[in-house]
Amino acid sequence: MPASVRIRVIGSLILMGLVFLLASLRSVHAQAPSQDQLELGAQLYADNCAVCHGADGQGRVGATLAQNWPSIRPDLRIKASIENGIAGSPMPAWSQLNGGPLGTEEIDALVAYILNWETGGPRYIPPTPTLGPRPVITSIPNVEGDPNNGATLYDQNCSVCHGPNGEGRVGATLGRVWSAFRVDLELENTITNGIKGSPMPAWGQANGGPLSESQVDDLVAYIMTLPVASTVSLPVQPGTTRTPLSWLSGWGGLIIAVLLFVLVIAVAVLVQSRKPAE
Ligand code: HEC
Ligand code: HEC
Repeated sequence: MPASVRIRVIGSLILMGLVFLLASLRSVHAQAPSQDQLELGAQLYADNCAVCHGADGQGRVGATLAQNWPSIRPDLRIKASIENGIAGSPMPAWSQLNGGPLGTEEIDALVAYILNWETGGPRYIPPTPTLGPRPVITSIPNVEGDPNNGATLYDQNCSVCHGPNGEGRVGATLGRVWSAFRVDLELENTITNGIKGSPMPAWGQANGGPLSESQVDDLVAYIMTLPVASTVSLPVQPGTTRTPLSWLSGWGGLIIAVLLFVLVIAVAVLVQSRKPAE
């Protein structure tokens, strides 16, 4: 046998071996997830992913997830996408290692839940959260849009990233002092068009998003009424963690301010004493 043929034969044998190995890995993995894992995945999905991927994974501003995955180990592919996000797209990184809110066990539950659509296995539909009645919000004069309708839209679309009270989560803090001259126009522009290169999606229908112009106006009107996050101690809602910076208010903030002051003085003294004598 000429050497070139031998190499080709050996090559294809190795390739076939690999395919079998990977195929068996897939079937080994395809053991049924537990009901507990599916329920956890369903709840996490409803809280974090449905806003972009649709309640049944059918796709919205995010990709369709209820599909037949072409890869050999779809679980690894899905897991990597969730952990690391997809750079340059609105898909954020969710793992705690990457600064996101979810732990390994939670991500595994999400992977199991998403793959469950592929096999058409039993579906777990989480109960829809019942939101308590909210106090009526008075509109800001000269700002178009209905803040009360905006509040509902906010809960459905934004709180997953910006926190239930605009205090910030994977998204920026929205309960803050805005510096633009026409805050309403700036907000309208950001919400309609998104922020390229960040996880902030474009929400306006003009950009392929799900919200109409008047819905965006309602959101603007609501966001402008959000309490400034650093000055208000927000009620901790069940199922959400406390604002990351909440310890900054009160004694913690005071102590840090004093420490910073001492540090600045110390550096100034040091710089002064290092100056060569004139
Ligand atoms: C702000 C919107 C947004 C949110 C929230 C979001 N995703 Fe995504 N996701 C996207 C977009 C957009 C893509 C497609 C990115 C691309 O390929 O350009 C994507 C892609 C993915 C993919 C890869 C799909 C593929 O074909 O490989 C997976 C898996 C995924 N998302 C899972 C999740 C899970 C699980 C959550 C909740 C923890 C989540 N996503 C939350 C927007 C989002
Ligand atoms: C997947 C996460 C995600 C979702 C969902 C999301 N945002 Fe954002 N948003 C972000 C991130 C991240 C930023 C910060 C982007 C940057 O500046 O790099 C941001 C920034 C913003 C800003 C600009 C803040 C500033 O300081 O200028 C506004 C306004 C905003 N989002 C409004 C909304 C509204 C309204 C919704 C719901 C319709 C929404 N966002 C949904 C992630 C998200």
